[in-house]
Amino acid sequence: MSIRRFPILPKPKNLPKRSSIPNGKEGDRNFDDLAHRFKRNVYDRLKGDIRLAVLQRDLQQWLPEAFNFDGAVDLHGGDFSACKPLKILDAGGGQAQFSCLLAEQGHQVTVCDISSEMLSLARDNAAQLQVEDRMTFHLESIQDFCAEHPQSFDLILCHAVVEWVVEPQLLLERLVSSLKNDGHLSLTYYNVNGIKMKNLLRANFQKILDEDYQGYRGSLTPTFPRQPEDVHQWLAKLPLELLAESGIRCFHDYILEPDQRVLEPEKQLELELRFSQQEPWRSLGRYIHVFSKQSFA
Ligand SMILES: C[S@@+](CC[C@H](N)C(=O)[O-])C[C@H]1O[C@@H](n2cnc3c(N)ncnc32)[C@H](O)[C@@H]1O
Repeated sequence: MSIRRFPILPKPKNLPKRSSIPNGKEGDRNFDDLAHRFKRNVYDRLKGDIRLAVLQRDLQQWLPEAFNFDGAVDLHGGDFSACKPLKILDAGGGQAQFSCLLAEQGHQVTVCDISSEMLSLARDNAAQLQVEDRMTFHLESIQDFCAEHPQSFDLILCHAVVEWVVEPQLLLERLVSSLKNDGHLSLTYYNVNGIKMKNLLRANFQKILDEDYQGYRGSLTPTFPRQPEDVHQWLAKLPLELLAESGIRCFHDYILEPDQRVLEPEKQLELELRFSQQEPWRSLGRYIHVFSKQSFA
């Protein structure tokens, strides 16, 4: 599978004004001050390639109409005739790296986020891929946006957000309320077991004994790493049927030597894809991808 990389854009000189909603719902983490570091540390690296590759493979398997084309996502010259455009919400979509790929497939994508900085980079990405006409951007919290748009979307992506919000159950309720009948939710969350494993491998035993997993202010380690059992319980209370799960970065982040972490990227990618749906590797994923369908049964 080949992965599209975004060209590295120069850092804008005149940054747009900071969001007038500094923290979204009180305490939710606005990424205005993290936007460029997030891009450099995740999407400009193999980390980001693995994230996009697993998500793309999962959606190809679990919702084939999202990706009609096998393998590479370079669709220029591809055949759109078989493609039924979906209405997609990228909730807390940040720089929209993944949802831009879905817009490339011909789908209509709405991105909402509380960070104007992240949305500005999302617009740049959409422009690079020439998909602006299929994307709209809203500077608004997910909670408010979803309350204003009930039963509106065929597919909602909420990737790497629940670990940054104070009231995750409210967030999930709002997301589900914005799904159309039979709509799908693609949720990823930061798995606390991944951070425990990493600390064990580094012999940081006191951190584990203190249950000290929160990132410090200004770090890319989430404020609320999530326990998979908690997320499962929250989802089980909602009108959803859980369809499938996979792990994202099941071994890459555990490679202790930074120099070795960048070795043989193609082989790492292939193995990450292979292990992401097999236990025990799946449960060790730095992120867990849960795919559900709205169901009132
Ligand atoms: C780790 S980034 C993930 C971005 C993107 N979903 C991805 O997977 O690359 C988390 C994003 O959630 C946004 N965010 C946090 N709380 C939010 C909320 N309540 N409503 C909307 N966006 C929120 C942040 O501003 C940030 O852009």
